[in-house]
Amino acid sequence: MGSYESTKETIRSVADIVEVIGQFVQLRKAGQNYIGLCPFHTEKEPSFTVSPSKQMFHCFGCKKGGDIFAFWMEYHGTTFPETIKELAERYNVPLLEGASSAEEKKKAEFRKALFKVNEQACRFYQEVLLEETGGKPGRAYLERRSLSFSIINKFRLGYAPDSWDSLTSFLGKDPRKLKIASEAGLLVERKGGGYYDRFRNRVIFPILNLRGQVVGFGGRVLDAALPKYLNTPESPIFHKGALLYGLNHAFDAIRKAGRTVVVEGYMDVLALHDHEIVETVATLGTALTDAHVRKLKGYASEAVVVFDSDEAGKKAALKSLPLFLNEGLSGKAVVLPGNHDPDSFVNTEGASSLRDLIRKAGSLFDFHVDMSLSVMDGSIEAKSIAINEVLPVLRRLHDVSQQSLYVRRLSERIGVKEDVLWMELKNLGRDGAGGSDKLSLSERLAKPAVEKRFSRDIHFLNLLIHYPEAAQALRNLPWQVLLSDAQVIEIGELFFQNYDSGRLSSMEDLAPNLESEKAREQLREGLLLPSFYSDQTVDLAIQEFERKIRQIQLSRSIQKAREQGDLESMNRLLKEKAEGIGQSAGH
Ligand code: CTP
Ligand code: MN
Repeated sequence: MGSYESTKETIRSVADIVEVIGQFVQLRKAGQNYIGLCPFHTEKEPSFTVSPSKQMFHCFGCKKGGDIFAFWMEYHGTTFPETIKELAERYNVPLLEGASSAEEKKKAEFRKALFKVNEQACRFYQEVLLEETGGKPGRAYLERRSLSFSIINKFRLGYAPDSWDSLTSFLGKDPRKLKIASEAGLLVERKGGGYYDRFRNRVIFPILNLRGQVVGFGGRVLDAALPKYLNTPESPIFHKGALLYGLNHAFDAIRKAGRTVVVEGYMDVLALHDHEIVETVATLGTALTDAHVRKLKGYASEAVVVFDSDEAGKKAALKSLPLFLNEGLSGKAVVLPGNHDPDSFVNTEGASSLRDLIRKAGSLFDFHVDMSLSVMDGSIEAKSIAINEVLPVLRRLHDVSQQSLYVRRLSERIGVKEDVLWMELKNLGRDGAGGSDKLSLSERLAKPAVEKRFSRDIHFLNLLIHYPEAAQALRNLPWQVLLSDAQVIEIGELFFQNYDSGRLSSMEDLAPNLESEKAREQLREGLLLPSFYSDQTVDLAIQEFERKIRQIQLSRSIQKAREQGDLESMNRLLKEKAEGIGQSAGH
């Protein structure tokens, strides 16, 4: 008996996998299944498939898949016990304790302790901010930045006093708790033993994940001291590369608008939310990554990047173009006038001016071309700069049809013939190191053979899935000789064992009993493919499988006879084989 079996069952009966995944991935109906862009790897064409009838998902691209629990764990980075607990809470299912491995338990408990101490610290900083005298410097600073009280509350902003041990002493004397707080990045261990507060005399920005848990903090100085911002270091619950500040509050608005606004800083997010542009998120002081874009494309079809007007901001906007192109999310750019960043712009020019800019935003690609052309407007030099800057971006595109589209647009924009651009592009490809994601010639030549070899495996699996009664004819034959794929053989063997003992209800039920994840992957793919056979052709197909098995057996016997120099047997077998082939020609 696995862990949490009864709670799992109840959750399965009330939570629909399409609905659960549909909150985080835009799904559309395709036949009996739903498809969307995979949240786990880079892609522009949907290979991520969710089956409502089988209550499972599978990505044909990266091969990740499984049930509702597997999705939750992979998407949110949670342990199994956490996943069960969160889904049970979400669907009002009573949580019955289940057995987990000691290691799993330990990991879940550690994470739980980190969340807990973060929550305590968050409350502590919030309370300090409200203290009559103790919170004054923080309140004065936030007022100067024109943040409303409701936004301060909503984002749970706080203040860390100018002291080395206010949080440390608030947390008490329990050494285990202090240790956890240091692992959460709140306290720093002293060389001689003991701890001190990491955040001192800073305004505190708690960072919450999508489920509203405090995973880390940012802290800003009140003056011009350096470093301006201090952030929680990486921890088991804090991974900067995929987190977006403000996403927990922006999530619903992004889904509703089908659009997200991406800015650079904490203050920008707060200012825009305060001005009711609530689909705004920011990265945490890092460049935008593919993991960020992959998340966002699950909720929106368009992202408007509003970066600072300084050089660094422009560079960041330019750098994000290939990410958007490769993930299939439409990216637009807003260039703020003057020396503004989004926060200062919205506070001086007002929300409607910013909304206007967002509405009129041009594509990131055009922004890219404009930026390159602006160096020496219209001149030949400018054109060659444009070519040199834009083509390397286009070369990184995985999709050739999209590449053609942009080559045409670049050609129109700068008045250089498409052929010339293509030639330049090809030249770039030759000396660049970037060809690594393409298959080498030998790999490409080898591929069809591999596919042919495995196509029999796929057909065999398809037959068993859609016509399990075929087992009757095949069960006493050495069907393994047909197959090349060890995983399909594993599935087949388990299938026949269950079939013979009369225990097989459906192929899906085999999954938990398969040894390897690779085999489960293979089974999921098999389950999602439509039947290759019909009621009319299935008998013929079975006969064909039987015949092939006999042929392969014969070939092997011939080989053996040849090796043993048994010419008589060899001739008899060869004749038999020729007859078999003749027979099939008559079909
Ligand atoms: N950042 C950081 N560490 C720093 C500086 C910046 O982590 N030492 C991150 C923060 O997330 C910050 C973002 O980069 O919000 C953008 O930096 P910057 O433009 O310098 O700050 P602003 O957000 O404009 O902050 P402010 O308006 O308060 O000056
Ligand atoms: Mn700013």
